[in-house]
Amino acid sequence: MTKIAVIGGGKIGEALIGGLLSGDYDPTDIVVANRRPERSDELKERYGVTAVDDDATAVENADIAFLCVKPYDTLGVVESIADVVDHNDTDTILVSMAAGITLSSLEGIASAGTAIVRVMPNTPMLVGKGVNVIARGRFVSDEQLETVSDLLGLLGYTAEVKESQMDAATAVSGSGPAYFFLVLEAMTDAGVNLGLPRELAKELASQTALGASTMATQEDADPVQLRANVSSPGGTTSAATRALDENGLRTAFYRAMEACAKKSEELGKPASKSDNSGEN
Ligand SMILES: NC(=O)c1ccc[n+]([C@@H]2O[C@H](COP(=O)([O-])OP(=O)(O)OC[C@H]3O[C@@H](n4cnc5c(N)ncnc54)[C@H](OP(=O)(O)O)[C@@H]3O)[C@@H](O)[C@H]2O)c1
Repeated sequence: MTKIAVIGGGKIGEALIGGLLSGDYDPTDIVVANRRPERSDELKERYGVTAVDDDATAVENADIAFLCVKPYDTLGVVESIADVVDHNDTDTILVSMAAGITLSSLEGIASAGTAIVRVMPNTPMLVGKGVNVIARGRFVSDEQLETVSDLLGLLGYTAEVKESQMDAATAVSGSGPAYFFLVLEAMTDAGVNLGLPRELAKELASQTALGASTMATQEDADPVQLRANVSSPGGTTSAATRALDENGLRTAFYRAMEACAKKSEELGKPASKSDNSGEN
């Protein structure tokens, strides 16, 4: 099986490990490196993976090394593992999960010719429903890209894009789960305001989201048509969607996603290396 190193066992690193194991990946083929030893112990105990405290050790003979540290830490990690990657018997593929950090800056720090793939993941990969948007670097062969895509396929949906589309993809899928969690929170509160118990309101909202997204992901499904199908003339749904439109729902999304894409673009600029705001 493909030997995997995960550098950074935070939210995305853990979601990646959890998703791979749910896809029947063997934990003995996964090594995770984390800065804090107590976090390494936690991941080792929870998932049965090998945990080390040193990034260079983790990437020794790894087929794929996933870089799951914050954007401002990513180039430093690439620099610290470059030598080991260069001397590995296998052609290790580096997969950067960092928002904003460009392929050219990663390739500029890695040893010449290193295969680097940039991925914008999202956390539902933990439950096999992630979205992973992929852009390939200059030195990635078709076969290497397929290896990475197949692996990410265990974690949900994958799509290849041009690197110039990465900031937009970050705004849609990378940060997208948070928008839906916010909507669920708002619908739960509104249900409570209408007199429903909180747990019931949350369950009704979450199960509705699941049903709606299942319908929206069917082949040839069109959200405009799906909404029209549930909006009777002069009915309840039409009254609700009118109120959403009057309160600026669409404008709010345009603005939110523009802000997200802009932030992603800024993370790739050199001044952001010391900027600790690189949170998703
Ligand atoms: N979270 C999301 O929804 C999301 C979505 C899309 C993309 N991403 C991208 O995924 C990456 C990780 O984000 P995250 O949310 O998972 O961050 P996170 O929860 O803060 O995880 C980062 C982890 O990396 C560890 N770390 C830092 N430097 C390290 C090093 N040199 N070697 C080994 N481990 C190191 C940190 O350890 P300590 O805790 O000890 O500092 C932490 O556990 C980011 O680049 C982000 O842009 C995240």
